[in-house]
Amino acid sequence: MGLQYLIEMKEIFKKYKLIPLATLKSKEEVKNISRLLLDNNIPIFELTLRDSAVYDIADEFQNFPEINLGIGTIKTRSDIDFAKSIGAKFGISPGFNHELSEYAHKNDFILIPGVITPSEVLQAISSGHDILKFFPAEAFNGLSVLKGYQNVFQGISFMPTGGINNNNMQDYLELDNVIAVGASSLLPQELIASKDWDQLDARLKNHLIYT
Ligand code: 3PG
Repeated sequence: MGLQYLIEMKEIFKKYKLIPLATLKSKEEVKNISRLLLDNNIPIFELTLRDSAVYDIADEFQNFPEINLGIGTIKTRSDIDFAKSIGAKFGISPGFNHELSEYAHKNDFILIPGVITPSEVLQAISSGHDILKFFPAEAFNGLSVLKGYQNVFQGISFMPTGGINNNNMQDYLELDNVIAVGASSLLPQELIASKDWDQLDARLKNHLIYT
């Protein structure tokens, strides 16, 4: 664990470059989405905590240990406890909060806090983070802002999310300071709700990341 675990996760983010995300509400959804991710060689996923049903079904991911599972929308300490309890390898938060950051460090849990402004980036750096979510990326002109951060925040990697899709993900990934992008556009909630596994499969197959 510790440093080695962080190094390994960074390698996984760099390798796959893409973190599909969704809120899953049943074990059937977990099984189907996990199989689709594995069939398409995308063994990484962010399960977002945006429905109370998530808490009852997330442990189904323990049957898919090949998937590098992250928990998203982390806002409280108990979200971190929950993520750890189901074996999630990392957590993603929409914002930065000093107390949450300390709690994650104390529990040897990789938390990727969200930032937008230079002051937020500085606060996150001073709390020991070097991978930061940049959210909501498109609403805040992410491409230009992240370009502007390249020289200023050397050694810091960003994970833009919010409005990332096939039309813009490659542009973000071309920036040296972007380690990976997060996107719900690959697994739209409507297609999950309607159990349209074929369409979801096609989306994962046709995503535009050139590895
Ligand atoms: C997130 O939690 O990172 C965002 O909801 C992702 O934004 P998107 O739905 O626009 O991909």
